Formats: sequence, C-alpha cells, structure tokens
Amino acid sequence: MERIVLIHGPNLNLLGIREPGVYGAETLESINERCLALANELGVELEIHQTNSEGEIVDLIHAAANRAHGIVINPAAYTHYSYAIRDALSAVGLPTVEVHLSNIHNREEFRRLSVTAPVVSGQISGFRGDSYLLGIRAVVGLIRNARQ
Ligand code: DQA
Repeated sequence: MERIVLIHGPNLNLLGIREPGVYGAETLESINERCLALANELGVELEIHQTNSEGEIVDLIHAAANRAHGIVINPAAYTHYSYAIRDALSAVGLPTVEVHLSNIHNREEFRRLSVTAPVVSGQISGFRGDSYLLGIRAVVGLIRNARQ
C-alpha cells in the first residue's frame, strides 16, 4: 500500500478562525478527516503532520524519504522564502504536490513567488480545503502512473 505524508505548515492549526474570508471556515481537523476518508477510498495510507517550525518540516521531509512514496505539503508562509524546505524537497526527490487553500497568485505580490514550486511535481492553489483532496489524488496518480 502506498504511504503518503501530508505536511501542514505554520498557522494552519488556526484554520476555521484565521481569516475565514481568505482560507474558508473549515477547521484543520475537518480537512484532515476528509483527507483520511479519501485516502481510505483510494486505498493509500495517509500520515498527517502539522508544525509551526521550519526545522521540523525539514525533518519530516527527510523522514519521508525512507518510509513514504509521496508528499503533499502546504508550506504556508515558508512557501515564499524557505530555501531550507526547498532544498529538503529537492534532496529527497519524492513525488510531491504543493497545495494552498488560497490562490497565492491573486493575492499580495510577495505570495506570488513560491521558492518550493520549481522542485515539486506540481502545485494546486485556490480551492480551500479541497486543494488537499486534489493534492492527494494528484500524488497518488503520479506514484501509480510511474509504476506502470
Ligand atoms: C497559504 C498561503 C500562504 O501565503 C500563507 O502564508 C499561508 C497559507 C495557503 O494555503 O493559502 O499561511 O499557504
């Protein structure tokens, strides 16, 4: 069975109360439940982490290298400036989908740049909680197609 690691970055623990007009009213717990239900439907194992710390995200990416087949990650604000997370994703080289609840391309100028996007398989941005479900479907598709 394929194992997918889902990583939520900083401030995403506040979903539901944090700027609902931008990120939606859904809580992280509810998003996680929907992701687990989808994983079950697709027949994959899903391991979920949330951390506010850049170093912990780097460690989670390293740990995924030996135990997972793919990564879905919302690096949150680190998307825009963390070369450490970018380098970790690049070093590990697993099929990876970067997801964002909001459309980072139609917001403030500083959000348009993702330093992680060039080293991942693809990016899904702007579908609120559904971005994660689309991300899981996408990474499972990448893993399964690579095996054919
Ligand atoms: C975000 C977009 C980032 O710009 C922001 O810093 C976040 C969340 C999103 O999911 O839309 O924390 O990654």
